[in-house]
Amino acid sequence: MCGICGVVGHRPATPIVFEGLRRLEYRGYDSAGIATLDDGRIERRRAAGKLDNLAAVLEDQPLYGTTGIGHTRWATHGAPTVNNAHPHSTSRVAIVHNGIIENFETLRKELEAAGEVFETETDSETIARLADFHLAAGKSPREAAFATLRRLEGAYAIAMIFAGHEGLMIGARRGAPLAVGFGDGEMFLGSDSLALAPLTRRIAYLDDGDRVIITPEKAEFFDHTGKPVERTIQTTAAIAGSVGKDGYRHFMEKELHEHPLVIGQTLQRMVDPATRKVILPDMPFDLATIPRGVITACGSAYFAGMIGRYWLEEIARLPIDIDVASELRYRNPPLTPGSLGMLISQSGETADTLAALRALRGIGLPVLSVLNVEHSTMARESDVVLGTVAGPEISVASTKAFTAQLTVLACLTIAIARAKGTLDEQGEDELVAALLDLPTRAEQVFAHQDAIRNMARIVAEARDVLYLGRGSAFPVAMEGALKLKEISYIHAEAYAAGEMKHGPISLIDRTVPIVASIPSGPLFEKTLSNLQEAKARGGRLLAFTDEAGADRLSAVAEQTIALPKVHPFVTPIIQTIGVQILAYETALLKGTDVDQPRNLAKSVTVE
Ligand code: F6R
Repeated sequence: MCGICGVVGHRPATPIVFEGLRRLEYRGYDSAGIATLDDGRIERRRAAGKLDNLAAVLEDQPLYGTTGIGHTRWATHGAPTVNNAHPHSTSRVAIVHNGIIENFETLRKELEAAGEVFETETDSETIARLADFHLAAGKSPREAAFATLRRLEGAYAIAMIFAGHEGLMIGARRGAPLAVGFGDGEMFLGSDSLALAPLTRRIAYLDDGDRVIITPEKAEFFDHTGKPVERTIQTTAAIAGSVGKDGYRHFMEKELHEHPLVIGQTLQRMVDPATRKVILPDMPFDLATIPRGVITACGSAYFAGMIGRYWLEEIARLPIDIDVASELRYRNPPLTPGSLGMLISQSGETADTLAALRALRGIGLPVLSVLNVEHSTMARESDVVLGTVAGPEISVASTKAFTAQLTVLACLTIAIARAKGTLDEQGEDELVAALLDLPTRAEQVFAHQDAIRNMARIVAEARDVLYLGRGSAFPVAMEGALKLKEISYIHAEAYAAGEMKHGPISLIDRTVPIVASIPSGPLFEKTLSNLQEAKARGGRLLAFTDEAGADRLSAVAEQTIALPKVHPFVTPIIQTIGVQILAYETALLKGTDVDQPRNLAKSVTVE
């Protein structure tokens, strides 16, 4: 949510910063801007909308200098106009900011009373004006920056440059991520290592509350009190080459096709190939004795958690409390001592999930996190990290990260069940075999893409769509409905199939298609009855089942997709791929911006 990139060095800054912003555009695309020091003077260019608009502005009015900062915005305070675009600057200082300054109104009033004139509706401009105020009073850039930071409340990652101080940049973070990249005679700041990937693989992450002063030769770190501290330089994995579309029309299409790969990679990390047993890193708690689990996450990651709950309760007999992180963090529930907190996040930076993590640890619970970005803030603050090996996910709508999360949760379920003695050796062998079969089966889903495209023709005509599923197919329905809403802008609701007759059935007519996730298995007949009830009321049924359920369904549903038959344990993973492809195909028909849907951004670092 908002991307920041900056460079101090010896090469022209603008192309470097612009390229960094390209790689951060998934974090917001309401507006973008760059500021540099040109002969010591602050110059900036900004544009509303996507980065291509900024590129056009830069072509008309190039920006020179070797010290520069840039920003791609997801608007919080103030409309997504050019005027509200970052960088915010005065003649003395320019800043870019990701986060929300919660006390900006108080600060603004104070500064206006002191003579500072504001030009935008944003909270972020306060940072520039406050720094300007201190600089005008004769403070050095460092003194002005630190004095400014001391007054800020809320969440931020900030980069600042100062007129007359080529080769100097000051960064800070609290609640939003910021990384320093170490180059050869040049240094970088970025919201994540992905932004810096083509520039350097030597990265140091700021701890929460840290500030950093960078010059072309070095980075000096300070903690929130201003005390000098050391931060480790890590070598990140080589990901620079793996973030193109590789011939696919969209990142989402590419990432959908990566499902088999990421499930396989994640299993490689979690299953010993020789013994075919699930292996977990050492845990600072005993899986055999944990009395309960508390799962929390946001959006799709939360639906992955819901599926995890079905598995953990049924197979490992572990009672689970589950809530979206934005609720859990404020609910102050009476949690059983010794419970295991389980967080799920692709980015590892989602503000609500991070706050829930801190709340759980604050009451003494150990926290295990299922994360894709392994250098993220959540990774650093968790007791145990189980990594999903999904690689960078660029499409704003999550796809491959979701199935990788499910793969990890499935392995975790097996490990806890083994530790608790609810799964014998034969049972474990059977479930592991089902998991190892998944990459092949996931690949086979794409043989149905044409049939799913046909289904999408019906969905694309609708204004409202109902998604239904029972058991672990219910969260699959939720994931399908969310993905459809997100990228095709068609209203969709998901219900537990048995709930339909308690209300939503009144919505049903020919104009509201019903997409059902109904794999064969113990709940098949029950869900089928619910679909019959819908059909009897004129509903158009579109069903995702498997080869074993196809015959029964084709008599009821207008269209049936018979996905590969897999072990019931892993059906939600296969079914998810089907409903995600349906959302993608529908969005194509609607002509929406698939990778960067309106109003959204990835990595939601604000509340
Ligand atoms: C949906 C989607 C979002 C994320 C949610 C959590 O397609 O992408 O709902 O799942 O914002 O993000 P992470 O997993 O990064 O915490």
